[in-house]
Amino acid sequence: MVFKVSLVSTSPIDGQKPGTSGLRKKVKVFKQPNYLENFVQATFNALTPEKVKGATLVVSGDGRYYSKDAVQIIIKMAAANGVRRVWVGKNTLLSTPAVSAVIRERSGADGSKATGAFILTASHNPGGPTEDFGIKYNMENGGPAPESITDKIYENTKTIKEYPIADLPNVDISSVGVTSFEGPEGKFDVEVFDSADDYVKLMKSIFDFESIRKLLSSPKFTFCYDALHGVAGAYAHRIFVEELGAQESALLNCIPKEDFGGGHPDPNLTYAKELVARMGLGKSDTGVEPPEFGAAADGDADRNMILGKRFFVTPSDSVAIIAANAIGAIPYFSSGLKGVARSMPTSAALDVVAKSLNLKFFEVPTGWKFFGNLMDAGMCSVCGEESFGTGSDHIREKDGIWAVLAWMSILAHKNKENLDGNTKLVTVEDIVRQHWATYGRHYYTRYDYENVDAGKAKDLMEHLIKLQSSIPEVNKIVKGIRSDVANVSSADEFEYKDPVDGSISKHQGIRYLFEDGSRLVFRLSGTGSEGATIRLYIEQYERDASKTGRESHEALSPLVELALKLSKMEEFTGRSAPTVIT
Ligand code: G6P
Ligand code: ZN
Repeated sequence: MVFKVSLVSTSPIDGQKPGTSGLRKKVKVFKQPNYLENFVQATFNALTPEKVKGATLVVSGDGRYYSKDAVQIIIKMAAANGVRRVWVGKNTLLSTPAVSAVIRERSGADGSKATGAFILTASHNPGGPTEDFGIKYNMENGGPAPESITDKIYENTKTIKEYPIADLPNVDISSVGVTSFEGPEGKFDVEVFDSADDYVKLMKSIFDFESIRKLLSSPKFTFCYDALHGVAGAYAHRIFVEELGAQESALLNCIPKEDFGGGHPDPNLTYAKELVARMGLGKSDTGVEPPEFGAAADGDADRNMILGKRFFVTPSDSVAIIAANAIGAIPYFSSGLKGVARSMPTSAALDVVAKSLNLKFFEVPTGWKFFGNLMDAGMCSVCGEESFGTGSDHIREKDGIWAVLAWMSILAHKNKENLDGNTKLVTVEDIVRQHWATYGRHYYTRYDYENVDAGKAKDLMEHLIKLQSSIPEVNKIVKGIRSDVANVSSADEFEYKDPVDGSISKHQGIRYLFEDGSRLVFRLSGTGSEGATIRLYIEQYERDASKTGRESHEALSPLVELALKLSKMEEFTGRSAPTVIT
């Protein structure tokens, strides 16, 4: 079919500034005339011409409500802008890590490679007609667009006057195949491909599937995976059941739904309720013996939560344990780790591993893009964040299923000799407790105060910065509140100089560091949608192996009391309790 291109006049729409992870708004905002079109054209105009004309682009996402309309609009605009071909995952489904993998790994029949992607997701935010939709652009390294590009996109949204669109019919995205068109600038193809193929191939090149398969086939090892009706479901059946032989009954909420079944697709102890109950961590006992290993993902499958039987693994411990065990357990790392990295508020569990294994170590601000730079420069192999993100340099996004396969690999490795006969399995809990005994334990908790008045949140942060001007003064106050905590040794506002491009990121959170390795960190969330969210991260290091088995809230209670009083949390926010504790 030969298509025609027409120019539609439009005018700027306010508020199209992409956040840390693209533009996220309510569906009804995206459905306004020209809203999506303006943002997509602003993105095309922010790219260099060779990334548009004749280029190959990926368009897909977590399958949330409005994705099917959005993909057709983007296809028509891509054709009109001279894009050569668009790759779409079947039914618009591609997890965020899979998009990254497709950009980096996939080759078309004629050897073509993608130079970028529109990812249609609002990550762990709920979906549906009254909930959120989102769009972000990833670059040819497979990672999110850097600030220089997102700033340009935003500038373009403020001046846009028109966009071109092709009069194409809607393309069938429900079955695999190529649909070809002829336009004023030549051929244009839409190729729909299997959402899992490229990603599965990559996972098989990283992990020893055979050893994981042996683990999963042992009757002693039981497993449960909760996709919270997000896009991880499109991979879970293929990987865990078809490739690795898990039981179908191991999969919970693994049918991707446009509204995530009405749930909040965020893998934590609050929202992954069914999994939490199955793993024996719920308030009431289900009467059924919980599985040995459980995990969950968020809407676009880049986040993960790792659980053992009646046992929660903090994300900060998870990345440290993966780093400590990667070399023996995961073939991809057999020649060693180039370095490891964590975000600043993530606990220092990873630091201890890095020191002991003599690995390069980086502490970066919150946000995955900082890891991407290190990885592109060959300086980092494994990284993670307290916000349930873990990953490696196989792609440039965090990767929920990768984290589960990493844990399965460690479990398989430690249980090589235990699968047959009566020997007891080494459990998730055993691995974590053994890790604490070797490296010490970082007791850790996070308090979130959501939707706080933005002015009051700012005042609280300013109060904490002012306090930092005299450490002896701080210590006087600290001792007045709790005489049993260590002295504050230093305090600052975290600033990061990127070792690769030299760029400086300021105001990345306020830190109070104690002589015994404890830390209090205060920062404002960069992802909230209403008011301000204050995050308070509390951490205490315990080196003595005989003291690493305490209840976390009990071990942390002196520091919690101190943090709340030192910051005057209630006075500034009017809140006597946080909205969420993780
Ligand atoms: C997103 C980013 C993460 C970040 C998280 C928390 O998930 O991809 O890199 O850690 O948001 O952000 P916040 O600013 O809300 O603490
Ligand atoms: Zn996500």
